[in-house]
Amino acid sequence: IPVEPFDLVIFGGTGDLARRKILPGLFRRFVAGQIEPEARIIGAARSELDDAGYRAFVGEAIADFGGNETRQKKKLKSFLDMLGYVTVDAKGDTGWEELAERVTDDRIRAFYFSVGPGLFGDLAKRLHKHGMADAQSRIVVEKPFGRDLESARDLNRGLAQHFDESQIYRIDHYLGKETVQNLMAVRFGNMLFEPLWNSQYVDHIQITVAETVGVGDRGGYYDKSGAMRDMVQNHMMQLLCLIAMEPPAKFDPDAVRDEKLKVIRALDPVEKDDLVRGQYEGDGTQPGYRNQVENRDSTTESFVALKLHISNWRWAGTPFYLRTGKRLRERASEIAVVFKDTPHSIFGPEAGNHRNILTIKLQPNEGIELGVTIKEPGPGGMRLVDVPLDMTFAEALGPEEADFPDAYERLIMDVIRGNQTLFMRGDEVEAAWAWTDPIIAGWQDRGDVPLAYTSGSSGPDDALMLMHRDGRRWREIK
Ligand code: BG6
Repeated sequence: IPVEPFDLVIFGGTGDLARRKILPGLFRRFVAGQIEPEARIIGAARSELDDAGYRAFVGEAIADFGGNETRQKKKLKSFLDMLGYVTVDAKGDTGWEELAERVTDDRIRAFYFSVGPGLFGDLAKRLHKHGMADAQSRIVVEKPFGRDLESARDLNRGLAQHFDESQIYRIDHYLGKETVQNLMAVRFGNMLFEPLWNSQYVDHIQITVAETVGVGDRGGYYDKSGAMRDMVQNHMMQLLCLIAMEPPAKFDPDAVRDEKLKVIRALDPVEKDDLVRGQYEGDGTQPGYRNQVENRDSTTESFVALKLHISNWRWAGTPFYLRTGKRLRERASEIAVVFKDTPHSIFGPEAGNHRNILTIKLQPNEGIELGVTIKEPGPGGMRLVDVPLDMTFAEALGPEEADFPDAYERLIMDVIRGNQTLFMRGDEVEAAWAWTDPIIAGWQDRGDVPLAYTSGSSGPDDALMLMHRDGRRWREIK
């Protein structure tokens, strides 16, 4: 369904995110017929470029990152015709009058702040000053949304001076992933799971976001952040919220976000022994973390594993284990809900221990798998075996239906539609920092040095111990 014609201004329109994700994503939505040719997309940045120069830049970005749609030459030409460019100085007055003239009064206007958080306040202020902060306007802000509670509060305050919360779209691209939304469909669209979704039946839940890539050329940013700020405070926290929250009364933005907030507020502080930090070492072919970030003494973590507890009626007694890291063996992100053993095995000890595990796979092969225990076929007596009821979306729905829009594509379209369900509310972000800050402060106070792990491994051994000592184990990353 096409969205109504809109004006979208991308601050940081020549930056990396715009080039890799936002612009190619918009092009794919255009090819899919969701964006009408009357829409207008304006790049805004400090570089001296004109419309033609920007079109050439975007043409290249699409050739590099546009996927299969890049072949649609005619569409590409019409898409490029929708683009314009204005040189704008976020901290000065250059370009603002021109920008104000270019955007249309009677349409949805979205301003995408694809810039560092240090500029959010300036951009909001100047949009207001130049008459672009009225009810027709929305702003989209990228992570990192601050680096601690205090800075996040400052950012929220700065934006709130000129925009209402209903106009602010804080992106966490994990919420735009197909399977993440499916998590809600599975939980609240089936009778099967919800009655079992609590500490009476669930032994523990594990959330893994494993990457094979290192910090690449983002060392400058990453070394000041680390995995805790870069992944846990936002992406993993959002996954945790969706898996743990109470059923919202409606699938509407505030109902969903209220429930997520309650989860974050019910998190216990994490004990020092329940935290493992790691930093990757080189493996001969690839440089280690410290080389990559050009900081020989860096104590920033590229891996975190932790155990946490949610203190509420549903989850008291069920631990959640989270781990994320770079340069691990496989790229694999999944949430596994591990159910408890049956209260009594009628098949005797030789049948072994069997548990149901529901796995929600985020990437690479999006899908949902339920492990069920059955009799091992054959005459060998009552031996039990676990088999997967596997619903890989591409297999179940056919490759075409499973060709999901990228997270960014979906989220930008939601901005235009005015649907905030998959965006973080200000209080949520603050609550997430309030939980994260003491963990990071603890590391700093103790002068904690992350444990080295080999590139291509599954992280430091202590992360395995975190589970072993509880008689549990991580699912293999594969
Ligand atoms: C980003 C982080 O938000 O998410 C990166 O800053 C990380 O460090 C990325 O690599 C992971 O996203 P995805 O979609 O590839 O899992």
